[in-house]
Amino acid sequence: MSEEVLTITDVGKNFGAVTALRDVNLKVHAGEIVALLGDNGAGKSTLMNIICGSHAADVGTVKVKGQELWSLADAKRLGVGVVYQDLALAPDLTVADNLFLGNEEVRRVGPFRMLDRRAMRKDARAAIENLGISTLRDVRLPVARLSGGQRQVLAVARAMKWAENVILLDEPTAALGPKQVGIVLDSIKRAADHGMGVVLVSHDIPSVLKLADRIVVLRHGTIAADRPPAGLTVSEVVTVMVGED
Ligand SMILES: Nc1ncnc2c1ncn2[C@@H]1O[C@H](COP(=O)(O)OP(=O)(O)OP(=O)(O)O)[C@@H](O)[C@H]1O
Ligand SMILES: [Mg+2]
Repeated sequence: MSEEVLTITDVGKNFGAVTALRDVNLKVHAGEIVALLGDNGAGKSTLMNIICGSHAADVGTVKVKGQELWSLADAKRLGVGVVYQDLALAPDLTVADNLFLGNEEVRRVGPFRMLDRRAMRKDARAAIENLGISTLRDVRLPVARLSGGQRQVLAVARAMKWAENVILLDEPTAALGPKQVGIVLDSIKRAADHGMGVVLVSHDIPSVLKLADRIVVLRHGTIAADRPPAGLTVSEVVTVMVGED
């Protein structure tokens, strides 16, 4: 088995009286794609937000390659890339600027530090070409002028560009047409082939049964199943998601 890149131990999180997560334990290895499934409100986004450092767990720990992660700064330092369910793009900035948000390239001009826009645009074009996204060719377009699907592809491209150890995707294909779904699933596969641990939240059960190495089902904030997809049917997954009764 390859190296463990993500270790979630006894994680719990409450929002007031709501228990969003309880006793969550999960390990993800380099090169592994883990699909995180569950009904609406099961706790998937809460868990993703804790793994990427945007929420802190009430109890338990998240570790990347053995180092604890408690904040967005930790996540960045530890090479965790994320596609949020609401994408978190800046609509008034261009495609290129969004790709570099929080990771801007600077050059020194005498005593000044300037954003190196030309280098960023060049890099942005290369990142987008790598993903085979011809639909985003003009990296100077403001994101406000992209379609929903194009924004989704951009958010995935950004996460892929900065992740080194772990990549988290919260419903990355929800708004996409079939061609874009193919591009995103291919790039997820490629990220795993490059040794990243991938956690993918999706409601597209047939696709993840084909793509994922492990299926993890959250039900009411706890893990109800954690197993390889071999032999598993869509209706069995749904039964685990909603409970027997
Ligand atoms: N910021 C918050 N404040 C209060 N309650 C919250 C907050 N975020 C999530 N919750 C609650 O925690 C539970 C889990 O929510 P979460 O968003 O993690 O579900 P999910 O599995 O991602 O659902 P979906 O499939 O609809 O995206 C829900 O009961 C939700 O109402
Ligand atoms: Mg969610």
